[in-house]
Amino acid sequence: MHQRRPRPAPAEWPRPHFIQLHRQDMAAVRAELAAGLGASPARLAPKYFYDALGSRLFDAITELDEYYPTRTEAAIFRGDAQAMARQVPAGAVWFDLGAGSCAKAASLFEVMRPGAYVPIDISVDYLREAVAALQERHPALPMLGLGLDFSSALDLPGQALDWLAGHGLQGAPRCVFYPGSSIGNFTPAEAARLLGQVHALCAGGAPGSGLLIGVDRVKSLAVLEPAYDDTLGVTAAFNRNLLRHVNRLLCSDFEPARWRHVAFFDEGLSRIEMHLASQGEQTVRWPGGQRQFADGERLHTENSYKWTPDGFEALLRGAGFAEVTHWTDARGWFSVFWARA
Ligand code: AVJ
Repeated sequence: MHQRRPRPAPAEWPRPHFIQLHRQDMAAVRAELAAGLGASPARLAPKYFYDALGSRLFDAITELDEYYPTRTEAAIFRGDAQAMARQVPAGAVWFDLGAGSCAKAASLFEVMRPGAYVPIDISVDYLREAVAALQERHPALPMLGLGLDFSSALDLPGQALDWLAGHGLQGAPRCVFYPGSSIGNFTPAEAARLLGQVHALCAGGAPGSGLLIGVDRVKSLAVLEPAYDDTLGVTAAFNRNLLRHVNRLLCSDFEPARWRHVAFFDEGLSRIEMHLASQGEQTVRWPGGQRQFADGERLHTENSYKWTPDGFEALLRGAGFAEVTHWTDARGWFSVFWARA
């Protein structure tokens, strides 16, 4: 199968450790999907965007002219890394939420000098390759890949605490890293709850522990809306691909060609909404259920909240964070916050 180049004996070679907590229960996934399709208006959760093709389409989105968040955040990290390193304690245990390829955190290691790296994603299988490759580049940095759904709960399992203790890191400062404005998928109430759990995780570390988080900002419609409805139609493909993924999970019979991509900014709710609008009347069927859609009826697929710096700072303080700083780009489109527990 895989041709590997020769390695030192296993005993000398540093190995990342992996723990899978959350096991995907297919019956629960199907029940959640069916409940969303039965609701009015119908909805599907954005976490189902990311099958293999969806993840590639998202990577393509980040390269679009119109999609500014990824490159704007990267520019902030490039420009302000030294200033961030004066806030984030060296030697901290980094908890990387939704780590995926681990590339964003890894690009900061040299400046930020973590003491250990704990990437977290819904499935530890998403992490194995990236973490193994990263471990080769940073042989002295202890790494623990954690498979858990942090959107439902962010408690460190006993095994992870044991692993930290085994590396003499139980009393180390902690840095929770949550880039990419993924916090935007949560409503303000859900975000407050998640940040409260992040605060508790930080509070378990030495003084100086905190959260380093990327947040997309409120800005003009002329910038926001094209970022979610691009000329090449990549975001439309990303949105429709959700139906292909749901068909596989639920054995449903969605026809992606009969759904139109809709994206707009709701200024009152301060969020981009993405929907799929039914083209013509149609019925979608799956084992044990069906749903009729009228012409033009919408299926809600994603919210992406945009924050003002003051609004997000208030959210952080409400979650218990004591000191808040942020860095932004020249246009004030995106912010990276450091919130000390
Ligand atoms: C991954 C949630 C940050 O909201 O901008 C991009 C997802 N959806 N284009 C975002 C997304 C459509 C993205 N997040």
